[in-house]
Amino acid sequence: MDHRKVYYFDNNATTRVAPEVVDAMVPFLSEFWGNPSSSYHFGRQVAKHVEAARAKVAELINADPREVIFTSCGTEGNNSAINSALVSQPGKRHVLTTAVEHSANMKFGAALQKRGYEVNYLPVESDGALDIHLLEKSIRPDTAIVSVMWANNETGVIFPIEEIAAICRSKGVLCHTDAVQTPGKLKIDVAELGVDMMSFSAHKLHAPKGIGALYVKKRTKYHPYLVGGGQEQGRRGGTENVAGMVAFGRAAELAMASLEDENTRVKALRDRMEKTILATIPDVMRNGSRLHRLPNTSNLSFGGIEAEGILIGLDNAGICASSGSACTTGSLDPSHVLMAMGLKAARARGSIRLSLGIYNTAEEVDYLLEELPGIVARLRGHEAHHKGKAKHAVAG
Ligand SMILES: Cc1ncc(COP(=O)(O)O)c(C=O)c1O
Repeated sequence: MDHRKVYYFDNNATTRVAPEVVDAMVPFLSEFWGNPSSSYHFGRQVAKHVEAARAKVAELINADPREVIFTSCGTEGNNSAINSALVSQPGKRHVLTTAVEHSANMKFGAALQKRGYEVNYLPVESDGALDIHLLEKSIRPDTAIVSVMWANNETGVIFPIEEIAAICRSKGVLCHTDAVQTPGKLKIDVAELGVDMMSFSAHKLHAPKGIGALYVKKRTKYHPYLVGGGQEQGRRGGTENVAGMVAFGRAAELAMASLEDENTRVKALRDRMEKTILATIPDVMRNGSRLHRLPNTSNLSFGGIEAEGILIGLDNAGICASSGSACTTGSLDPSHVLMAMGLKAARARGSIRLSLGIYNTAEEVDYLLEELPGIVARLRGHEAHHKGKAKHAVAG
């Protein structure tokens, strides 16, 4: 591995594991490696730490610890929530979701359609917003579940989950939300939100990959997706990822503490970065609502060029950013999220996502702002012009 300085602007893809989280989890990889289901003390003491971690995750979202099921990732949470709704209500074969969900929902929906279920993907408006009246009208007597993400991973656009959950309640339909992008950025209170299920992924909040959680409201019928041992009170088979769970618990505490920093300092960095790019680079457009979005995310379209070239230029400068979601990078298809918002394919192909986090500094933003204009100008074939201007500025 090489240890070049990394300018990391891709916090919606994954996040650096916090040193405090590493410290908390290491003992469970070294000294305390027992199986929490074992009946002897060496196992039982580990089980206590699993429960302490569960309590911390529950506190992050204002839930009862018994409402938290540990999973392996956000994808598992989303798949499990929808699967449970369909299996526990066999007469209902319709799923309502949106056209801008993460591939964890988009592809699961497609797989369900192949198995004979009906899945509707609600459209969005040009700023990424959902038409709530259309959502309400689209709920049918055979709708098993409404699964709508809280915050979009590509644009940061936030959907009004409290309102959506209230509509679902009034119609007697289960409501699940993919809240993977929200911890540490939005205040999460499941009691206020009123959803039945909610999924999380710890690697988005400075814990390692391979651990997530699904909140399932008390008295909601739940049918496990992974069937095996009686772990997670019979709701998710498989020997526990103890170190991951402990890490998630510690990261949940840190996320509560960093909420203010994300919404003040990180938001100010994002706003300065975005404003400067929009003001100094010609033909750039922001994608998604300016106001109703996460404090850390900026999705920008650069006219006349492809994101791939921008990302290679940034990478050469040590800057990590992405186009679309990391999971679909490598495909030449334009982002399904931007296409659903009505962008022309060429415009969508010229879009990059910059997502900041608590470890970003003002100096890193300055560096990005120094590098990006040259990369864009070179791609637009204006290299000579740009160099001339830069020389003039230095001389003057
Ligand atoms: C909104 C959203 N949902 C789900 C996922 C999937 O999470 P995981 O990678 O933990 O499966 C992601 C990850 O990018 C995401 O951003």
